[in-house]
Amino acid sequence: MNHAPTGKPLLDVLSGHRMAVPPLWLMRQAGRYLPEYRELRVRAGSFLDLCFTPAFAAEATLQPIRRFRFDAAILFSDILVVPYALGRRVSFEAGEGPRLDPLEDAREVDRLPEQPDPRALEPVYQAIRLVKKELEPCTALLGFCGAPWTVATYMIAGRGTADQAPARLFAYRKPEALTRLIDRLVSASVQYLVQQFRAGVDAVQIFDTWAGVLPSAQFAAWCIAPVRRIVAEVRRQVPEAKIIGFPRGAGTSLAAFVNNVPVDAVGLDWSVDAAFVRDALPSSLAVQGNLDPLVLLAGGAALDRAVDTVLANFSGRPFIFNLGHGILPETPIAHVEQMVGRVRQQKC
Ligand code: CP3
Repeated sequence: MNHAPTGKPLLDVLSGHRMAVPPLWLMRQAGRYLPEYRELRVRAGSFLDLCFTPAFAAEATLQPIRRFRFDAAILFSDILVVPYALGRRVSFEAGEGPRLDPLEDAREVDRLPEQPDPRALEPVYQAIRLVKKELEPCTALLGFCGAPWTVATYMIAGRGTADQAPARLFAYRKPEALTRLIDRLVSASVQYLVQQFRAGVDAVQIFDTWAGVLPSAQFAAWCIAPVRRIVAEVRRQVPEAKIIGFPRGAGTSLAAFVNNVPVDAVGLDWSVDAAFVRDALPSSLAVQGNLDPLVLLAGGAALDRAVDTVLANFSGRPFIFNLGHGILPETPIAHVEQMVGRVRQQKC
């Protein structure tokens, strides 16, 4: 235990405390499974208008808190606002996911500005200030960014891809250009996260959604090294900044990740084995996760059993209950209520 309790259970866990009832939030907790989100999304027009209109982004952030009283609100935005602020075209087509103009060659990388346009991201910081005023003192506010590798996969391909092959090929064919792109994204992410802290977030999560496709030497180069630099530089500017790392799909490379990146917690996807966590990750390190989003969709007795298993697996250490990845849009609200009730009735 490093610090006196803050009154925010999620922050206490990030400081190394173990809670009898773990704090709880869900990745993608604001989104299409909520009718009030779907209504707001129509009112906003485009997805980027939703992200960049502070009152709308604040409202989307608060919707799941009103319904479920989660222990953390996560800023409503997207990882692709950073490429947008670096001057790339970004749009979200209904039902098709993100579209960007693909980064095809090294010269285009060198034409990216040194820093994101601060005016483009200002509405995000304003949304943080609006949300902050509305939250109960016990609810933490999380900011976030995408990790450089994951953001680069979208910038290079110009869209989501099943296997991230365009970025992986780019890494093999033009490693120097990828290094320069990752460097730009490291400094953009540092600036973005520092500004989020200054606007009032309590902690941030760095989403490396596509970390798991990298062979281990490349995992070290494109995931561990850049995220380590972001953590060090953010902490230099915001001492004691609380940071959650989420190298999704890292598997046994999670051990290398936590040994090299001094995060306050690591997010576990649903495939991570509890025995591996016990044996390979320091027992004082907080972990977050890792209910399968599909079992939340399935509901029923399978959901109860899966919740109990996650609680039993991680209750011996500082622990934040979450999914192993984002909630699926088809998830019934009643299943979320069932899960929240189950987590909160348990005394670990
Ligand atoms: O968690 C939250 O509630 C906060 C908001 C949030 C969104 N995206 C809103 C969103 C967060 C934290 C993200 C992160 C994000 N965005 C990631 C990393 C986490 C992950 O889930 O892997 C990634 C890879 C993206 C990129 C992205 N944004 C994709 C691939 C898509 C399309 C797929 C989809 O779910 O539609 C988006 C769009 C998006 N971002 C939506 C939401 C609510 C849906 C857009 C809509 O409402 O039409």
